[in-house]
Parts: sequence; C-alpha cells; structure tokens
Amino acid sequence: MVCLGNICRSPMAHVVVEARLAEAGLEDVVEVTSSGTGGWHVGQPMDDRAATTLTKAGYDATRHRARTFDPSWHDEHDLVLVMDRNNLRAVGGAGERTMLFRAFDAEEPGGEVPDPYYGDLSGYEEVLRMVERTSTGLVAALERELAHS
Ligand code: 4NP
Repeated sequence: MVCLGNICRSPMAHVVVEARLAEAGLEDVVEVTSSGTGGWHVGQPMDDRAATTLTKAGYDATRHRARTFDPSWHDEHDLVLVMDRNNLRAVGGAGERTMLFRAFDAEEPGGEVPDPYYGDLSGYEEVLRMVERTSTGLVAALERELAHS
C-alpha cells in the first residue's frame, strides 16, 4: 500500500486490509506493508485524524510507523497498490503488479483515494468508506487467486 506521506491513506488501507485478511483466515498467507513516496514523516505514527477514524470504527491504529517506498520492493512484493495517480507516477508507473488500490473497488474501479491531509475529519471518513469497500474486493480477489494457485 503506497501513498504520499504514509501517515494517512496507505496506513488506513494497511490496517483495514489486514483486518479483512484475518476475517478470511489469510493473515498467515498474505503479508501487508505500507509506505510513502515522500520521506517527511518517516518513523512517525499515523496522523491523529486517521487514527481517530480507524479507532472509532474498531480497528487498531497503534502499530504504524511511517516508511519510504523503496523501488526494490517491486521485486519483493507481489502487488504494489497506490492510492492516486501521482503515487503511480512516483513508483514508476502502472505495471502488471503495480496499480491503483481502487482497481479492486467494485463501485468505481480505477478511482483514486483522495489525499485527506489538508482537509477535515470528514475526508478521513470518506477515505475509510472507500478503503473498506476496496479491501473487501481485494481480499475476495486474493481468495480467488489463492484457490487457483
Ligand atoms: P497521505 O497524506 O499521503 O495519505 O499519508 C499526506 C500526508 C502528509 C503529506 C501529504 C499527504 N505531507 O505533505 O506532509
């Protein structure tokens, strides 16, 4: 999961996808990490507004520490999922295993997860709704993929 700062969108996606994987019994099969294309917040926990939004919805927001995306991770990870088209450019463009996270959103495949950083809490709630819906689609796709491998 990749965004710009790795303190808002990709940490939210990371936590929600992990929760969905655990519900599907896949927590030991699929590993999730997150990172940002910019390094300003490295080592920091997620943004308070992201943490508040996740905690209110019953997720654990306490374990995150921000990291910077490393291009070698294209080889180390099966899927690189980015939140918007700027992130996609920053990681070197779309590829077979590099795409928008919302490619897995049944409602709007190909949509972006908008950057909530300069807005208010309602933007974080909107991000959570998109992330929850997309995570359901992503875990269903992973279950199908794993059933065929
Ligand atoms: P994120 O949000 O990419 O969803 O983590 C941002 C966090 C920090 C900044 C920009 C976006 N920033 O410019 O510091």
